[in-house]
Amino acid sequence: MTDETLPLSSDPLHGSEEIRAYFGDVYPRVLAFAELLADQGVTRGLIGPREVSRLWERHILNSAALAPFLPSGVVADVGSGAGLPGMVLAAMDPARDYILIEPMERRTQWLFEAARDCGIENVRIVRGRAEEVAESVEADVVTARAVASIDKLVKWCSPLLSAQGRMVLLKGRSAPDELERAKYTLRKHRFTGEVHEAPTLPGVEPTTVVVLSRSGS
Ligand SMILES: C[S@@+](CC[C@H](N)C(=O)[O-])C[C@H]1O[C@@H](n2cnc3c(N)ncnc32)[C@H](O)[C@@H]1O
Repeated sequence: MTDETLPLSSDPLHGSEEIRAYFGDVYPRVLAFAELLADQGVTRGLIGPREVSRLWERHILNSAALAPFLPSGVVADVGSGAGLPGMVLAAMDPARDYILIEPMERRTQWLFEAARDCGIENVRIVRGRAEEVAESVEADVVTARAVASIDKLVKWCSPLLSAQGRMVLLKGRSAPDELERAKYTLRKHRFTGEVHEAPTLPGVEPTTVVVLSRSGS
């Protein structure tokens, strides 16, 4: 067996007590999504086969790390793709409405089926580009991972947000430079940005989270 074909059981966090305790009551839904992603998510080309043996740290926990930064209200996850971070966050937070925005038909079909098969009922899937769906989306929070620069995300997503809406973005270590490059756009749209290191489990690399809040909110 090559590294490319390792099963989900090869992920050292899979089924661990730490993961069960971290997710608590919502663990069964998150587990169902992780298992679907490791199986059909790979065969349907949503994630690479090499991701399976590091699925919990790289993808599921990395997405879950955004949860403490979400203010109340509707969340729109832009460029959901495989469902990251939107489907994970929706699975963790069944009382809140999530809108998953994704332009590619093949990926929206995956998102519909994953929500149905994993019992994640609090998601609405919108097919389209973020900058083209303002008529059908109004959210209090926008999330995104690996979709575009901060500058572009602010331009595309500001029209989707309520007046005091916030953006909570998963970013890499270059987040401070990206914020600097976006400073005129941030000012124009009344956002101020902060970079946070968000821990999940001991021994797991923290996630870099950029929070954009409206000035004065
Ligand atoms: C690299 S993938 C990341 C997917 C997922 N967020 C993740 O972290 O695995 C980028 C996703 O953004 C979507 N995308 C690209 N441009 C977009 C736009 N203007 N509005 C919404 N989604 C977009 C792509 O179709 C793709 O699914």
